[in-house]
Amino acid sequence: MAAFSIYNQVLISSNDMAQALDIIILAAGKGTRMLSERPKVLHELAGKALLQHVLDTAKALDPALICVVYGYGGEAVPQAIADSSIKMVKQEPQLGTGHAVQQVLPHLSEKHVTLVLYGDVPLINRETLRPLIRVAQDNKVSLLTIEMENPQGYGRIIREGGKVKRIVEEKDASPEERRVTEVNTGIMVLPNRFLPAWLAALKNSNAQGEYYLTDVISLAASAGVEVVTAHPAHHREVLGVNSKGQLAQLERMYQQEHAARLLDSGVTLLDPQRIDIRGELVCGRDVVIDVNCLFEGSVILGDGVKVGANCVLRDVNIGRECNIEPFSLLEKASRGAGCRIGPFARIRPGTQLADEVHIGNFVEVKNSQVGFNSKINHLSYVGDATVGSRVNVGAGTITCNYDGANKHRTVIEDGAFIGSDTQLVAPVKVGKGATIGAGSTITKDTPAGELTLSRAKQISISGWQRPLKKAKD
Ligand code: UD1
Ligand code: CA
Repeated sequence: MAAFSIYNQVLISSNDMAQALDIIILAAGKGTRMLSERPKVLHELAGKALLQHVLDTAKALDPALICVVYGYGGEAVPQAIADSSIKMVKQEPQLGTGHAVQQVLPHLSEKHVTLVLYGDVPLINRETLRPLIRVAQDNKVSLLTIEMENPQGYGRIIREGGKVKRIVEEKDASPEERRVTEVNTGIMVLPNRFLPAWLAALKNSNAQGEYYLTDVISLAASAGVEVVTAHPAHHREVLGVNSKGQLAQLERMYQQEHAARLLDSGVTLLDPQRIDIRGELVCGRDVVIDVNCLFEGSVILGDGVKVGANCVLRDVNIGRECNIEPFSLLEKASRGAGCRIGPFARIRPGTQLADEVHIGNFVEVKNSQVGFNSKINHLSYVGDATVGSRVNVGAGTITCNYDGANKHRTVIEDGAFIGSDTQLVAPVKVGKGATIGAGSTITKDTPAGELTLSRAKQISISGWQRPLKKAKD
């Protein structure tokens, strides 16, 4: 019988791990030191709310339940998260971390274990959490702790004979206890079967008048439930955000870690201190990124792509061997191989560039397709246009796509040559191989292979005099 039950247990924990985990994310606090109207957990790190970082990590652990405890800021937190797979529980008033977990108790399944995370501790790594979860699935309590030279403000881990006996908060600690340098990160995993009794036993007779979740540790110890501790791989994983200064520090740590990973994967960063990634950046081989570039959303850089200094790339897919020159802004677009873009180019959403397209300085392209080896090299606006292959769009050309009410398309067929300073008043089509004389305003379709111009003939007036300045009184 005994053998059978052990076997049974092994089956449950290895087979059914996804079922066995509930996650609570504490996010009810105000974050007074942020000096902001916004709840702390909605401030952004790397372009994403602090709470969203924790939610993403939580989801990666494939839990049965994710529950966010919110409070300060009213409905701002549930509105910002807007994810029906996440249970939102309001804690009002906020009487401490133990009280916060009490609010969730009715949603927890007795057979599961509960991981407690914090909405303001965004860099916790799931690989740090997995072993903690496994320990708790063995009916133990697991606790993430760190050694700190200056442990001020943190709960101290009090051991006897090496075994964890309790956690004492700084404000309740004796001078001797305050000298302990092993501190509570707050992150723990608890078998749910113990929670009803332990949470009911919490008292608020302490310096802060709060129901401390940390008091469950002494309850575990006195019930003979083993408390197992582990350290995170990196200190940053357990750093919380309490002020704008700490938020900025964590942002730098996050970016440096990201930069280090890029370097490890063979990307050349001219200065790893000067890159910002707010999303996901995927790079091929021999990618070179110069200083002060910002990558947002999902960015893919093909083999041999070079990104010049001070570029912003947002949700773009860049084909191999493309060269993005300095100060260019590219958004929600894709380009083929071997394109040259910028300097000072702006590529807006809905743009697709084929291979070997050249987009030069002070050119804006929006919602347009540009065919193979076409060139728009200087000072142009091309919007809602379909541009064929080997087209040359001269300097200062503008597609007049908007009539004040509606947008219209411009079609420029293969091999067309658009003279400088041309206005193409859409809807309009320039035929295959057509030439447009410089300075033309084109309002009607132009025939293939022919020269079209719309400007007045040049005349010279002999004997014309410039006006003279009037003499002052
Ligand atoms: C807590 C721990 C402490 C640990 C430290 C690590 C307790 C009693 N103490 O202290 O041992 O060293 O974290 O940072 O748990 N929250 C709620 N509802 C509440 C109170 C807090 O959701 O009623 C949330 C806060 O928004 C915050 C987190 O819980 O995200 C921690 O609360 P906080 O009051 O900052 O606890 P600490 O004093 O830092
Ligand atoms: Ca805190």
